[in-house]
Amino acid sequence: MYYKHLKLTIPPVLDLSLMSQLPEKGHVPINTSYINPELIEFMYSRGIRIKNADVFCSPPGFELGIHVDGIALNNNVAINWAYCDEKGSVMQWWKPKSEEAKVVDPSAQKDAYGITTTPYALGWTEDEVDFLAEVEVRQPTLVNIGIPHGMKNKTNSYRKALSLTWKYENGELEWNDAIHLLGDLIEES
Ligand SMILES: [Fe+2]
Repeated sequence: MYYKHLKLTIPPVLDLSLMSQLPEKGHVPINTSYINPELIEFMYSRGIRIKNADVFCSPPGFELGIHVDGIALNNNVAINWAYCDEKGSVMQWWKPKSEEAKVVDPSAQKDAYGITTTPYALGWTEDEVDFLAEVEVRQPTLVNIGIPHGMKNKTNSYRKALSLTWKYENGELEWNDAIHLLGDLIEES
């Protein structure tokens, strides 16, 4: 319920030089016109429509704070591809120790560069959560973005992670629907 590796061989971006044109650090929404039409058509054939494309650019040692994507805990998914010259970056999931959701002011969560590290409405520090799971995202990975999660670039290389979110029926693509609709692509682990 946190992640599944996918046997999805369609490259999400045809011209990967796009990645080197992005900043070394930050959250960069990109136009979905950059996404390979073949991938969009394949997902459409499963009833899934593309919503957003974002690239998370992380310099060596960068840690993205624990957050959920959205304004409340949810069960939405993204499909992520990570581009990095080294292994060793992980996406991690956490369970809050308190049931009470912690609302944070994103403007108060700045790193040494003055860049917002947790650009979402709900955030936690590591002493407020218990560890659930982690995975190295390299091949396409289905990830749950509605459970508190974060990312650590433990390498000496710059990391660019493309994250695609999806619409299904009248809402966002959620975990159980994704497992059903993409079940034949899931790698046993
Ligand atoms: Fe996230």
